[in-house]
Amino acid sequence: MATTHKLIIGNCMSMEEIPDATVHLMITSPPYFNAPFDYKGLFKNYGQFLGVLNRVAREVFRVLKKGRIAVLNIDDMLVNGEKFPIVADTTKIFIDAGFQYRDRIIWKKPDGYLRISRRSGVLLQNPYPMYFYPDNLLESILIFQKEKFDYRSIPKDIREASKIDTKEFSDKKWYMTLWAMNNVMPGSRLEKDIAAFPEELPYRVIKLFSYKGETVLDPFVGSGTTMKVARDLGRNSIGIEIKKSLIPIVKKKLGFEGQSDLYNQNDTFEVTIREGVKLGCIS
Ligand SMILES: C[S@@+](CC[C@H](N)C(=O)[O-])C[C@H]1O[C@@H](n2cnc3c(N)ncnc32)[C@H](O)[C@@H]1O
Repeated sequence: MATTHKLIIGNCMSMEEIPDATVHLMITSPPYFNAPFDYKGLFKNYGQFLGVLNRVAREVFRVLKKGRIAVLNIDDMLVNGEKFPIVADTTKIFIDAGFQYRDRIIWKKPDGYLRISRRSGVLLQNPYPMYFYPDNLLESILIFQKEKFDYRSIPKDIREASKIDTKEFSDKKWYMTLWAMNNVMPGSRLEKDIAAFPEELPYRVIKLFSYKGETVLDPFVGSGTTMKVARDLGRNSIGIEIKKSLIPIVKKKLGFEGQSDLYNQNDTFEVTIREGVKLGCIS
């Protein structure tokens, strides 16, 4: 079955191109609030950051079909010694937008992972009480649901084609609220300067919460990891990204640049740049 992949260049606070109740799953990783390397100065203050999430939550609720799932990879952020309660605030924002809070999974990175700084080094330099800031190896994966899902709405053949491999589910311990997954190495080829998540994350979420041929949305799509995995798994995708410079990265990551032999030849990739400019359809 051929799939379609649409990249929208614009601000995801509006999802005007996407009609109501047409998306089957949302998965995203919003920009970190004032992470030192990636997004310093992107938001004037914490209130503005929450304002963006609030608008996005309402748009996601509008475009998702009834019963469907929204997943956010997000975590609390330490800025100048103060921790911002992003997980709690995001949970409240999504509940206020109409979602039910369904679950929280903790993503544990390998012990050697130290992405931003070795905060525990403060104590090693000052081995006295009150200097303790632990190194963070964890992120949250928040799962929300828009109303009740009608299991009978899925045709039998699609249900069978989307069956989850229970051996993979058990062997890789998807059944727990703790998911041990490797992070993307900083400086990786296609993810340079983008805080990309590993393919394993959307892979698990797409398999667990969508059926073949359905549409997966990532409103902060970055390098296009969600769209790439959606294509791999026979799902359609829509990505929104504010940085126009990422178009070639996404196109390459999705395999629309000379890698067509690996994929269905009839899959399509379309880029829309807001303000009515359309770059056309690339098969
Ligand atoms: C954490 S990254 C996402 C990385 C992505 N999961 C991946 O694997 O490549 C967040 C992305 O959101 C984009 N972004 C930030 N604010 C945005 C907005 N208001 N609308 C759309 N994209 C935005 C940033 O440019 C960045 O590429």
